Amino acid sequence: MKRPGRVLILTGAGVSAESGIPTFRDADGLWEGHRVEDVATPSAWLRDPATVWRFYTLRRQALLSVEPNAAHRALARLQAEGPPSLLVSQNVDDLHQRAGSEAVLSMHGQLRSLRCEASGRCEDRMADEDLDEHRFVSCSCCATASRMRPDIVWFGERPLGMDTIAGWIDALRPGDLCLVVGTSGHVHPAAGIATQARRSGATTVLVNLDAPLNVDDFDEVHLGPAGAVLPPLVEDWLRSWSEDAGTV
Ligand code: OAD
Repeated sequence: MKRPGRVLILTGAGVSAESGIPTFRDADGLWEGHRVEDVATPSAWLRDPATVWRFYTLRRQALLSVEPNAAHRALARLQAEGPPSLLVSQNVDDLHQRAGSEAVLSMHGQLRSLRCEASGRCEDRMADEDLDEHRFVSCSCCATASRMRPDIVWFGERPLGMDTIAGWIDALRPGDLCLVVGTSGHVHPAAGIATQARRSGATTVLVNLDAPLNVDDFDEVHLGPAGAVLPPLVEDWLRSWSEDAGTV
């Protein structure tokens, strides 16, 4: 593959699976018998905020005991040593950032932060040791100290950064690269990114454990665990792109 002018990366739960974070739709993807969709909607928060709070607080606590894996590190290397890139992640963990990726857009929000229900302001509360799964917390931005909700984009809410993503897709040209890792292609708008990138002329490459719903959107498909597949793939790309740079 020739050196692309830009690289758009999309990741999903599969990229963090080898760090020990369960995916949503694989065999162990249920949470205490709940479908994730049942705790990931604004109506669930209205109906049963205690269950939703507990779900996200336990997931935030679990982040403290996991580390980025070889797939996160390979993507950070691709971003550091390759062409200009944007990494769009559907994941709400912070493992891409911890692996060293800088241009990361977390389109479904972040477990690290909480959002004031009244003002909409977000605060990073990862360092709060008193974040308890049984007790809501209050913001520090309102005089009346409003309740905070998880800073997560739930089903029915608008994903973050859609204008930035659309701008990147529009700017893709033939020869550019769209790399998609570890996502089942079930949830839109993320699932449409490869289709649109291909329409813009980019080469679409998939790394996934098994064939996702939208497998036909990809020019190149690598099936296998991302932590094993990505490092040699990125290594090959970087080597061949640096050889490109040396030829006239
Ligand atoms: P899914 O759980 O739907 O899909 C994960 C994908 O990763 C599957 O296709 C697996 O085959 C693949 N996979 C599992 N282990 C892997 C590994 N080691 N290496 C590579 N691939 C692997 O997760 P997402 O597609 O990310 O939304 O789900 C999308 C959205 O649905 C989530 O962001 C979340 C969820 O409901 C919200 O919470 C808004």
